Amino acid sequence: MSDKTDVKKFQVPQEEIEKQKEFTALANSVLTAKYPDRTPLAMVHTYGCQGNVSDGERIKGMLEKCGYGFTDDVNEADLVLYNTCAIREHAEDRIYGNVGALKNIKKEKPDMIIALCGCMMQQEKVSEKIKKSYPYVNLVFGTHVIHKLPELLYNVLSKSKRVFSSPESDGVIAENVPVRRDGNIKGWLPIMYGCNNFCSYCIVPYVRGRERSREPEDIIKEAKELIAAGCKDITLLGQNVNSYGKTLDRDINFAKLLKMINDLPGDFIIRFMTSHPKDCTEELLDTMAQCEKVARHFHLPFQSGNNRVLKEMNRGYTKEKYLSLVEYARKVMPDISLTSDIIVGFPGETYEEFKDTLDLVEKAKFTSLYTFIFSSRDGTKAAKMPDPVSREEKGKWFKELCDLQESIAGKRTALMKGKSYRVLCEGYAKEGIYNGRTGGNVMIEFPDTDGGKSIGKFCTVKVTEPLTWIVRGELEE
Ligand code: SAH
Ligand code: SF4
Ligand code: F3S
Repeated sequence: MSDKTDVKKFQVPQEEIEKQKEFTALANSVLTAKYPDRTPLAMVHTYGCQGNVSDGERIKGMLEKCGYGFTDDVNEADLVLYNTCAIREHAEDRIYGNVGALKNIKKEKPDMIIALCGCMMQQEKVSEKIKKSYPYVNLVFGTHVIHKLPELLYNVLSKSKRVFSSPESDGVIAENVPVRRDGNIKGWLPIMYGCNNFCSYCIVPYVRGRERSREPEDIIKEAKELIAAGCKDITLLGQNVNSYGKTLDRDINFAKLLKMINDLPGDFIIRFMTSHPKDCTEELLDTMAQCEKVARHFHLPFQSGNNRVLKEMNRGYTKEKYLSLVEYARKVMPDISLTSDIIVGFPGETYEEFKDTLDLVEKAKFTSLYTFIFSSRDGTKAAKMPDPVSREEKGKWFKELCDLQESIAGKRTALMKGKSYRVLCEGYAKEGIYNGRTGGNVMIEFPDTDGGKSIGKFCTVKVTEPLTWIVRGELEE
């Protein structure tokens, strides 16, 4: 007996995807009749992580096939769709604010369709609240039925009824869904979905279902498509890429997948996120070191530097294990740039314990940090834990952490002065000034001295003026 989860359980049958094509054609004909003289416009806004951004690209792909064009101006939109995030309370409040603001616009334009999807909408209590308190919202759908958007939209368009669909599910893998990418220089490539880790503070496992990996062939096919379309910077996505392959009944893991993508022909760089320290192996770090296309950047969230807090968070590693990974990564890749995520003020955390986080930050010498104050999420274990420290006090700790990291980042970028880096020019920061990132993920700005020719190309840039979070430089021949 195999202990692997049956992959077929997650795969959406291709007949279902074909059926959605029929709904796409139906939605298209309703829209053509409704807007005979013009292309209807959709405004799609995505919040949250890159996984959600990637979903947003598929949502736009399906809407485009249904016949929509796109706009960023809510006043000219015929369909407004918010692809939401539930990670922190602030993210949710923002959505309620934005949806509330649509009420008056909808009064002026009663034909406008308002749709909400993403992680917030996968929570029953949210979808109920929208049903009751926001009667002008037409369509709500959860994270497991994104591929059914053509059908859901057709039902809204043809039946003039509100549609709510956020079924409970362990999750799906839907291949061959149309995609409309936000740009062609950088590309998001999901390799797995969902999460099984249940860190005690985190809502993701509840709204994204169980961990499931895409078949390597499907990933490689999409990677090849990206490269053929001119993509130079591919980011592999998953909540815990280090456990890639665990649900597949075959001999594959993340290190092997990375090598397979590295071996594809073409000049591009590979990034990935997110890595979980508990599943990070020396094999992975060795593979990174050997793969010339893998960026020398490692995002390895540690959340807290205190072992009791880490245990309460259910993270499955200690401060010592984390630091030994950092040490090994630096041994095999001396130029590696490390970044991390931290939560300040986890329930019950004391100032003494928080000082262990400061100590870890001091020791690991990160390039940059994503820092968050704990936000209680209904349904998670941490939401039930006593949380005696005031928000104000947590704010002070947070500032102490940010100040420390600022001084470390400043020192790190200062060391870049005079050195040259291979940089992918991504476009303009402002008129006449290019922007890009070093392999280590440091933002770099440099004057356009070649009339736009560098955009979408790798160039050599010499750092002239290091600031704290970004550096300025100049193009070298
Ligand atoms: N899968 C990734 C993290 C995804 S969420 C990982 O395990 O590293 C991105 C970040 O949001 C987390 O790393 C964490 O720092 C933060 N976060 C998640 N839940 C949070 C909460 N309830 N309050 C505050 N920050 C939170
Ligand atoms: Fe959330 Fe933890 Fe899963 Fe990351 S690994 S998504 S923090 S539960
Ligand atoms: Fe937010 Fe969902 Fe991503 S909760 S961080 S959009 S997985």
